[in-house]
Amino acid sequence: MTLWGGRFSEPTDEQLRALNDSIGFDRRMYRQDIAGSIAYARAIALAGVLTPDEADTIIAGLRQVLAEFEAGAFELKPGDEDIHTAVERRLTELVGAVGGKLHTGRSRNDQVGTDFRLWVLDAISVVDRLLNDLQGALLGQAEQHIETLMPGYTHLQPAQPITAAHWLMSFFWMLARDRERLADVRRRTSVSPLGSGALAGTPFPIDRDALAEALGFHSCSQNSLDAVSDRDFAAEFLFALALLGTHLSRLAEDIILYSNPRLGFITLDDRYSTGSSLMPQKRNPDPAELARGKAGRLIGNLTGLLVTLKGLPSTYNKDLQEDKEAVFDSFDTMTTLLPVITAVVHTLSLNPNAMRAALTEDMLATDLADYLVKKGLPFRQAHHVVGQAVSEAARQNVPLSRLSLEVLHGLSPLFEVEVTEVFDFAASVARRAAPGGTAPAAVRQQIEAAKQMLGV
Ligand code: ARG
Repeated sequence: MTLWGGRFSEPTDEQLRALNDSIGFDRRMYRQDIAGSIAYARAIALAGVLTPDEADTIIAGLRQVLAEFEAGAFELKPGDEDIHTAVERRLTELVGAVGGKLHTGRSRNDQVGTDFRLWVLDAISVVDRLLNDLQGALLGQAEQHIETLMPGYTHLQPAQPITAAHWLMSFFWMLARDRERLADVRRRTSVSPLGSGALAGTPFPIDRDALAEALGFHSCSQNSLDAVSDRDFAAEFLFALALLGTHLSRLAEDIILYSNPRLGFITLDDRYSTGSSLMPQKRNPDPAELARGKAGRLIGNLTGLLVTLKGLPSTYNKDLQEDKEAVFDSFDTMTTLLPVITAVVHTLSLNPNAMRAALTEDMLATDLADYLVKKGLPFRQAHHVVGQAVSEAARQNVPLSRLSLEVLHGLSPLFEVEVTEVFDFAASVARRAAPGGTAPAAVRQQIEAAKQMLGV
């Protein structure tokens, strides 16, 4: 028996039912559904739809349904098409016909919006806590490597020396923005659609503000047509996770690259590397590859929902049922991935010797140009002169510092004997001490700001 069978003389086709039912995935919203119903029962009691006794009976019944779910004892029956119908069916079994009064003035359209928003609000908190942990792991590693030198890259070509802490902290700030984005999504998710009815609003004098507040929302929606079809919050949540996934994928790519034995900058802990079934020497960075791979899936979930939404007429349409699997999948993907990535970062060994060995003097070419700039040469000319020096060093097959003063003089009379001081990686890094730079002094400030942000 469905809850809406009155106008039909034949039962729903079995195959349509399989297509139509969402109980298989939306049952994970049982807590939110029951919380929404308990608050709604109180609200319609205040509006005079239920007597206080009826409300008490219904609320006690709903608590019992919740207990059954919590105990894993809830039994699905044919006709339980989604979590809303399943809860109401069981409630009515438990408390009798009075259970049928709960849905007065309510539609599954405002109900599902309410449940799903409550679910996303909880999900945001979970992801935010996991991000806090990952930021903590990055911070912990960075603090160990404020003075550790490594090559910095642009275009994946050796560019300038940097400190390893600076590299690690760059991901801290990406995650800080991800957390801000989630907080922003939270603000727009925290709006209650309950009391919008199917689309046109409710004829009962429900105090929608009080109802929203009882459920922990910060406000209630202003337009019932919008409220029952608004899935912006789901799309925004998926976007926040897709961009977070993109950041994790970039971190993963660095981890994969830097753990390649040719570079050997980092070593993944044994617990977070995998072997090959065929090649005994292999040590594969699978968790990082999975992080990189999962980003595709997260982006796919976002794209899928946007495409579902784009052509919908006003107001609720069953297409909207597609919102949940995408969101659940992105959430599950992220909450499986984040703890592993946090552990990977936490247990990562950095190899300062390998990083130092990968520094080459051409990475100081900018410093050499800056040396000429300090002596008054316009930067563009200095760039050209140093370019010639780099080319000459390559021709002679020697590092930049081995060019004789005579040769340098030939390129610019501004070169003097103390030019040798330029060829010092630590000094190069230390010069970049303006806020946001790679110098240990600047990185210490950055780490201070990060600690304040985390409250540690
Ligand atoms: N299972 C549906 C969903 O997830 C609930 C709302 C159904 N509303 C309706 N009028 N059929 O969207």
